[in-house]
Amino acid sequence: MIRLGVVGATGAVGKELFDILEKRDFPIGELRLFGSPRSLGKKLTLRGKTESVRILEPGCFDGLDLIFFDASDAISKEWVKPALESGAIIIDNSAVYRLDPAVPLVVPEVNLQAMKDSLKKGNRLFAGPNCTTVPLAVVIDTLRQVAPVSRVIVSTYQSVSGAGTEAVAELRAQSVDILSGKPAQPKALAHPIAFNLIPQIGGFLEDGSTSEELKVRDETRKILDLPNLPVTCTAVRVPTVKGHGESVLIEFSEAFDLEKMKAALRSRTGITVLDDPKNRVYPMNETYGVSPALTVSGMDDVAVGRVRRDTSSDRGLQLWIVSDNLRKGAALNAIQMAEGILPELLARHSS
Ligand SMILES: NC(=O)c1ccc[n+]([C@@H]2O[C@H](COP(=O)([O-])OP(=O)(O)OC[C@H]3O[C@@H](n4cnc5c(N)ncnc54)[C@H](OP(=O)(O)O)[C@@H]3O)[C@@H](O)[C@H]2O)c1
Repeated sequence: MIRLGVVGATGAVGKELFDILEKRDFPIGELRLFGSPRSLGKKLTLRGKTESVRILEPGCFDGLDLIFFDASDAISKEWVKPALESGAIIIDNSAVYRLDPAVPLVVPEVNLQAMKDSLKKGNRLFAGPNCTTVPLAVVIDTLRQVAPVSRVIVSTYQSVSGAGTEAVAELRAQSVDILSGKPAQPKALAHPIAFNLIPQIGGFLEDGSTSEELKVRDETRKILDLPNLPVTCTAVRVPTVKGHGESVLIEFSEAFDLEKMKAALRSRTGITVLDDPKNRVYPMNETYGVSPALTVSGMDDVAVGRVRRDTSSDRGLQLWIVSDNLRKGAALNAIQMAEGILPELLARHSS
């Protein structure tokens, strides 16, 4: 049984992690939960066992086998090192170590082997990618089995839960305020998000890109081990709660058979194809019980639809991706990373 620590257990990703672990056969012995001082003593229940949330303090990780970091960049910067010194294996969902050459950035369907090889060499720190990068990497990795990819152009439609619990509360409160004729009050996000689109996620860089857009480029390149792949992204925050949409144009270096591309997507574990446009079948974030089969919020798989040839080039393929940012984009991906090295984790525990 694994002695597990979760830093950020009370946050948006932390809550999803609990929901997934509840239903999954991951062997947990001791469970230690960490939050901010605001959450000290708060009780959370997993598989019928209730644990109190603790705060981070020296020695708090002693004796743990595995620690998920799901808090923030600032917390990972300060606490990942002491966690490593405690001897545990760390799976960090912050952006701090993702591009560190010594730290594998992992989407298990694509590059679990990099994690295993690194673990064998004695490394114990592994990073989970940005929530937009994960589904994109799974899809590109699938299609590159059919033809070599030469360029990727992405526009994202990212839900407020990608910015954490506070942003979700802000969208809900603002929606009520605006419909009641009251002024919108942005706090977690830079501008009002209710009934609006914000073409900025992260800070702006010299070249006019945002940090989020460069994460999509740089992380995709690292996961796919294609360091020079041309990738360009426009990241937009949209007033949905859960699920990130991506409009993607992928160019290939040779002509391709569209049916082979569709077949590759259909046969890939971890991808659900919802693509029957004549019957209005395509993936969507949330349909409030109206079209459950098309709803991606709460789904583990990356959903893909609107797969078609680019009308401006015979080497381009266009598609629409929706993925639950809190599940495959964060918590589920981290759990799958841990499951991928489960024999090694169990062996460490018993040694
Ligand atoms: N949201 C996504 O879609 C997504 C996707 C991929 C990766 N990530 C990454 O996952 C991490 C968590 O994101 P989130 O969306 O879950 O954020 P969130 O909802 O804002 O949750 C933040 C968590 O960090 C905890 N925390 C804050 N200050 C702390 C402190 N001083 N000591 C210990 N814990 C502290 C919070 O505890 P309290 O509840 O006590 O404040 C809460 O549990 C971030 O690094 C984010 O970049 C998020």
